[in-house]
Amino acid sequence: MEKSPLLKSLAARIVEEDVSYRTKMLEIAAGLSDVIALGRGNPDFDTPEHISAAAKAAIDAGQTHYTHPAGIPQLREAIADTLRREYSLDYGREEIIVTAGVQESIVLCMLSLVNPGDEVLITSPRFTSYDEAVRLCGGVPVPVPTYERDDFALMPAEIEVRINSRTKVLVLVTPNNPTGAVTPPLIVRQIADLVKRHNIILISDEIYGKLIYEGSTHLSAASLPGMKERTITLNGFSKAYAMTGWRVGYMAAAHSFIRMIIEPRHTLSINTATPSQYAALAALTGPQDPVEAMLQTYRERRAYLMQALTDMGFSYGMPGGAFYIYTNVSQTGLPAPQFCESLLRETGVLIFPGSMFGDDSDNYIRISYVQPIERIAEAVDRMSTFMARQ
Ligand SMILES: Cc1ncc(COP(=O)(O)O)c(C=O)c1O
Repeated sequence: MEKSPLLKSLAARIVEEDVSYRTKMLEIAAGLSDVIALGRGNPDFDTPEHISAAAKAAIDAGQTHYTHPAGIPQLREAIADTLRREYSLDYGREEIIVTAGVQESIVLCMLSLVNPGDEVLITSPRFTSYDEAVRLCGGVPVPVPTYERDDFALMPAEIEVRINSRTKVLVLVTPNNPTGAVTPPLIVRQIADLVKRHNIILISDEIYGKLIYEGSTHLSAASLPGMKERTITLNGFSKAYAMTGWRVGYMAAAHSFIRMIIEPRHTLSINTATPSQYAALAALTGPQDPVEAMLQTYRERRAYLMQALTDMGFSYGMPGGAFYIYTNVSQTGLPAPQFCESLLRETGVLIFPGSMFGDDSDNYIRISYVQPIERIAEAVDRMSTFMARQ
């Protein structure tokens, strides 16, 4: 069939992605009743009430217009305070840009750093939006593998062997999606030394930085000596505050860099939705007990699920943070995508395979514990029945 003028005119940077697996899974799920969705990275909690109330009050007060492209000053100030208090990071409010989720920060980072042919190293398995953003800018994403034997921590030696004259940026995601891995402080220090030695820029994605469990410690790379000037720190509200739909995240970097990208940020979307910025302000300045309560609930679900998976004979890397358990299903003899599809068809439990996170080993599935514990227990029962049938 003759291609339409629009299709014929597609820019070279737009390539057809294979979304057939995801589409197939969602179609199967749509045809089933009583699906237990442990697939997406979307908290099941409602946004805490005082946060929603702040947005409603902002709308009623007429806060429905453009703001400064970098965000309202009060929010940037509150972000700088939070970064100082909770992560020992030394950013002023003029060193913060508020964006539409961390997602927009990722695009802005790549737009402002990547020239055609530049290579960007990315913790892997990974949140593959990084690949897409790098490619859209003409760069080359280079996955840096992590392994279950290291609890999926990003290892300096794996980074080092992939560095060459085209390497420009390293993306460290800790805690990571999909593995939940928290890169230990000692290793973050080694990575900091490495990026300084090789003169590489670090993007430190800490969107799960508040979701840390006992036995793990989060260290923000930009708090280390000599790192602020070569690091962009990303963080946001989607995960810890259950605010995925509000679309608020931010990037923090040295002022000389931030002032250069205010204009590109303005070009992308002018500013983050104004009522959402007021919601984010309330999230940071209001009571933190709802975050504590959600973290406690995740902690209970995680403990339950880890034990249940162990009892079923599955192994996994220790998930020190986030709300994922990256589980090894190789002993079932089924490749992970097939495991997930059969599990969904036969039991109604929706889980995503590692292949959706750039993992070509076909050995892993990512279980998101974003359902009440009774539903997780029900999912475990269904998985046990499924396993017994294999
Ligand atoms: C590692 C990582 N970074 C960034 C994002 C984007 O988050 P948002 O745009 O909702 O802030 C996600 C979402 O799942 C993520 O897992």
